[in-house]
Amino acid sequence: KVNGLEFAVKDLALAEAGRHQIRLAEHEMPGLMATRKEYAGSQPLKGARIAGSLHMTVQTAVLIETLVALGADVRWVSCNIFSTQDEAAAAVVVGPNGTPEKPAGVPVFAWKGETLEDYWWCTDQLWDFGDGKVANMILDDGGDATLLVHKGVEFEAAGAVPQPSADDPEEFKVVLSTLRKSLENDKQRFTKLAAEIKGVTEETTTGVHKLYELVKSEELLFPAINVNDSVTKSKFDNKYGCRHSLVDGINRATDVLIGGKVAVICGFGDVGKGSAESLRGQGARVIVTEIDPICALQAAMEGYEVKTLEDVVEYADIFITTTGNYDIIKAEHMAKMKHQAIVGNIGHFDNEIDMAGLEKTPGVTKQEIKPQVHEYTFADGHSIIVLSEGRLLNLGNATGHPSFVMSNSFTNQTIAQIELFTKPGEYGKDVYVLPKHLDEKVARLHLDALGVKLTKLTKEQAAYIGVDVEGPYKPEHYRY
Ligand code: NAI
Repeated sequence: KVNGLEFAVKDLALAEAGRHQIRLAEHEMPGLMATRKEYAGSQPLKGARIAGSLHMTVQTAVLIETLVALGADVRWVSCNIFSTQDEAAAAVVVGPNGTPEKPAGVPVFAWKGETLEDYWWCTDQLWDFGDGKVANMILDDGGDATLLVHKGVEFEAAGAVPQPSADDPEEFKVVLSTLRKSLENDKQRFTKLAAEIKGVTEETTTGVHKLYELVKSEELLFPAINVNDSVTKSKFDNKYGCRHSLVDGINRATDVLIGGKVAVICGFGDVGKGSAESLRGQGARVIVTEIDPICALQAAMEGYEVKTLEDVVEYADIFITTTGNYDIIKAEHMAKMKHQAIVGNIGHFDNEIDMAGLEKTPGVTKQEIKPQVHEYTFADGHSIIVLSEGRLLNLGNATGHPSFVMSNSFTNQTIAQIELFTKPGEYGKDVYVLPKHLDEKVARLHLDALGVKLTKLTKEQAAYIGVDVEGPYKPEHYRY
């Protein structure tokens, strides 16, 4: 604690380095900066206490400072143990004025290389805003903050946290012990918190998927906005962001020449499309695996071979999972790979690659080459290189997506926070997407920076295709 400001970051001395990067990022984030300007006077987030769980990078720093500039009180953690940029975390704590003090300085609990226990401890620091006040908004990426609240409420209602079963994932055991401690201190902590929360805005495909499941089982405790499915999010960040940051991660981790290598991309959704292009751009011969005939056909039409993993596991050089599903690359696959094949995941959770199975394979040894790069050697002497221990490698081995694409995503986030906070009566316990005119507005805010000149519809043309001159230009069912 400094000046009454709580935080847990690697080193506050990194703040100046972080501030320089934030300053450069601001220039590359025109949507967020325009949103700051638009709402500076009206302060729509005044009274909002936002608990944010999203990769603590330089770009996220610009998002946090935008939320603060709009009047919000914010606490922040990262949504992955490896994704924090320590200099960004320090700069956000210290704030643009150079003193770690509210309101410009923000409590951040995040550092690169947390243990799972650290991670859930950090997530549990999100809720208490001091003076008896708790969070009233969540900004989530992957749903871990939302999960903690929902599980907390569930166990408080049951009166106890269950004992973990043997086949529960390690991480869930840590969630249970975090909640057990909480329940010992206050039997109604999460129940009271959930009653305060006006809503959650969710960043990514995997988190959104969990929200729809909560709606289906009638367990969702507050309204949610699916930011991922704004067109200006998933069709840009997931695709063009990964096109940039996948090769960045592989290069920083291994410095292996990608040109000429055979690379396998598992999954050809938005992330898969960007990832395949990323590697093809470097001259790799890219092979795609898919379960969905539409996406498989798209991949084929783009000129990629579409095979099963079993077909190619023995001769490909690079394997990347992008599915948001689990058990995509199993231990037995990894055992069959070529010597020094590279294995990584860019989907949200680490269970796309069966790391637990790999660790348990008889005779396997693990050697750290450098942080977040490990060589696993099998009993027969051949080895594979695993990036970020199976966690999303573009944030573990590099610095995630660049600012310009994140400006699109985070402008949607900011608008979504304003929607849920200022119009609580308009949203029920369901999942919503932002209206199309706001999606178009986000795109519009990014055109000038790229020198894009839009053609203007005439009144007659607008009437002919049945839209308003000012938009929205497409029906809801249009897929882009
Ligand atoms: P998506 O749903 O568009 O694509 C996933 C694709 O994987 C689908 O086409 C699906 O048919 C396919 N798939 C599912 N099971 C498969 C299997 N067993 N084998 C082969 N293909 C399979 O989802 P999106 O938006 O591409 O996101 C994918 C993951 O990436 C999610 O976990 C998401 O949260 C995450 N994500 C990560 C980012 C990053 O910066 N690392 C950025 C954005 C999203």
